[in-house]
Amino acid sequence: MSGRISVDLTGPQQTMLATLYAKALDADAAESVLGDSFARDAVARIDYDWKRTTITARQAPGVAARSKHFDTWTRQFLAVHDRATVLHLGCGLDSRVFRIDPGAGVEWFDVDHPDVIALRERVHPQRDHVRTIGTSVTDLAWLDRIPTEAPTLVLAEGLTMYLTRTDGVALLRGVVNRFDSGEVQFDAFNPLGIRLQWTNAVVRRSGSTLHWGISGQEEILAAVPGLRALWVGSVFESEELKQIGGLYRWLCVTCAAVPGLRGVAQYHRYGF
Ligand SMILES: C[S@@+](CC[C@H](N)C(=O)[O-])C[C@H]1O[C@@H](n2cnc3c(N)ncnc32)[C@H](O)[C@@H]1O
Repeated sequence: MSGRISVDLTGPQQTMLATLYAKALDADAAESVLGDSFARDAVARIDYDWKRTTITARQAPGVAARSKHFDTWTRQFLAVHDRATVLHLGCGLDSRVFRIDPGAGVEWFDVDHPDVIALRERVHPQRDHVRTIGTSVTDLAWLDRIPTEAPTLVLAEGLTMYLTRTDGVALLRGVVNRFDSGEVQFDAFNPLGIRLQWTNAVVRRSGSTLHWGISGQEEILAAVPGLRALWVGSVFESEELKQIGGLYRWLCVTCAAVPGLRGVAQYHRYGF
């Protein structure tokens, strides 16, 4: 079909096609978790054999639940800061800014590798107060382009595991040093989660390697002076996953009950 956009991505950049497709499948479900019609529209605009992502309708609610979790945290932050900066790192083609629809006092930056941002600019419409930055987040020069005055939310969904510990800690320190106040929100695997990466078909097929396994909040608090923990816990104990029911409820109950598994996937939220 003419006008559809072709993509040819490998490595970490490719994995965002899987999360996008999951959110599009979820949008089509009778009991959608996220209701992300923007993801469905984006998938329709891209010429890609989506089966290659390995994502099926069964996996879609789990991915959508993670995005819903960060949407909730983002809304909570913006509810108390109507003037704010949001740095959406490793944004992929996620349509969070459209789902959240922030007010005019919010300056939003979507940041990802240049090839992802080039695609993003073709797929999603432009919007006032939203800018994109095509860079590796590990090249900290991009931080100099961000205004520092407003409270700043740094949000990284599905990103930290692709960074090395050295780069991840440098990024967090860079954020805390540059901005006066705000929050840092991200998800993470622990070292066991990193060792289990061979079970993750999306990662395997993309040719990516996951690096950074985070043991818990102590590791972050010790490495990044200035952060204070607001909420750190298991993904398996999150309300969004429990609400899906069926296989997911069973998975959550089981993984949350086994000490060795509870921390495999974590949500982290810090203030500074
Ligand atoms: C699993 S996808 C998640 C995409 C999106 N956050 C979502 O949840 O749909 C991982 C994203 O992180 C991006 N990424 C990985 N390493 C990065 C880096 N060093 N700098 C910028 N983006 C990076 C990838 O390009 C990809 O878009």
